[in-house]
Amino acid sequence: MPGIDYLERIPNNVDLKDNRRLLRALEDWQPKFLHWWQDMGPEGWQAKDVYLRTAVSVDPQGWAQFGYLRMPEYRWGIFLAEPEPDRVIAFGDHKGEPAWQEVPGEHRATLRRLIVTQGDTEPASVEQQHHLGKTAPSLYDLRNLCQVNVEEGRHLWAMVYLLDAYFGRDGREESEALLQRRSGDRDKPRILGAFNERTPDWLSFFMFTFFTDRDGKYQLASLAESGFDPLSRTCRFMLTEEAHHMFVGETGVGRIVQRTCELMREHRQDDVRQHGGIDLATLQRYVNFHFTVSLDLFGSEISTNAANFYTSGVKGRFEEGKKDDDHRLKDATYPVAVPDADRIIVREQPALVALNERLRDDYVADCARGVARWNQVIQRAGIPFELTLPHRGFHRAIGGFAGVRVSPDGRVVSQAEWDARRADWLPTEADEAFVGSLMHPVIERGKFASWIAPPARGINGQPIDFEYVRQ
Ligand SMILES: [Fe+2]
Ligand SMILES: [Fe+2]
Repeated sequence: MPGIDYLERIPNNVDLKDNRRLLRALEDWQPKFLHWWQDMGPEGWQAKDVYLRTAVSVDPQGWAQFGYLRMPEYRWGIFLAEPEPDRVIAFGDHKGEPAWQEVPGEHRATLRRLIVTQGDTEPASVEQQHHLGKTAPSLYDLRNLCQVNVEEGRHLWAMVYLLDAYFGRDGREESEALLQRRSGDRDKPRILGAFNERTPDWLSFFMFTFFTDRDGKYQLASLAESGFDPLSRTCRFMLTEEAHHMFVGETGVGRIVQRTCELMREHRQDDVRQHGGIDLATLQRYVNFHFTVSLDLFGSEISTNAANFYTSGVKGRFEEGKKDDDHRLKDATYPVAVPDADRIIVREQPALVALNERLRDDYVADCARGVARWNQVIQRAGIPFELTLPHRGFHRAIGGFAGVRVSPDGRVVSQAEWDARRADWLPTEADEAFVGSLMHPVIERGKFASWIAPPARGINGQPIDFEYVRQ
């Protein structure tokens, strides 16, 4: 495969040096990006050597190289998966036609919007996690935070490349705007709700990388099906990086669960707070919160936009190629849960307008597999407790369930019951204050904070007490 050219100022595998106009646009943007990174990257560690992986090829095998690097020197660049020869569009009205190498005029606005919305999430999460460098529970975790963040920065590069390369002046303006919005800012917020929420502590960080980065996986996988081939190839490579972020989330929560179980057994009590652990009931409330704000990211259950994206070949389904149907869906239906007075019923809806819900279903099933692995940890400890995903109607702000009060077990409840039970169902201020009180930096090699177990193994075959960040 054509390797990534690291001799260039902007590493890439898209022959950037042969495209003077694009090169100039990106070279103009690069210092602004670095300025943003200095402001918003992990606080307190920018000048230190961190054991990071860098992409050196786009091969599924062995694309990464590990070594010490100061984060501002990370080689952010533009990496697209290898082109599939003779790729054709796999769905919608253009099914069977050659994939587009340029943006079709009639889909220009839609594609631009999708790319900007995806691109906006990447710097947003870096901003949300900015201050976590001050309270890392170990060097291993600190290193993972830095890795996730430099890669989110690279994902921003990926989207900015598409905007600059294919959307002319509009694209360049959007690239600038991506560096100007700020997560949670009142005047210039990020585009999507979950990306304006705070990530106040490391429990929230692990929940975020498990639940919210996983939304990213499903959005990227759908965009990887796009008829617009450069978008497809960009997203395919991003997915390989995204996998690590979800690994950080799943194992992070898993290690917290493990530590909690150890403390429960040692002290023979459920409330392990006084022993420096996070009790399972609190973990459940954090699951409830992060799962449901992530569900909102998929949009309304019924969406003509989603139908149009699909019909026009712009955005496919998760694993479109593996679905055994006509890939046009004009006559198909799909079951959608909707509130109906004081109960929740399932209605068959035209499959095209239900595509958001279908993607959400794929996502929910994936989340459930991770939760089952956390439950194995609890089970192995012999503790009769099960973490669960709340009903999809619970605590929703977007779609048919917005404004409807639904309990985690899926009953439509009165406002009075909601108010009475809210503190059992969602993290309270007291929960946040308690979790916050546990957040002290642990940066001694091989040591871990009281509330989290060490990982099963280190990064890239290194021992757990490896010096993942040099001080
Ligand atoms: Fe990302
Ligand atoms: Fe991510």
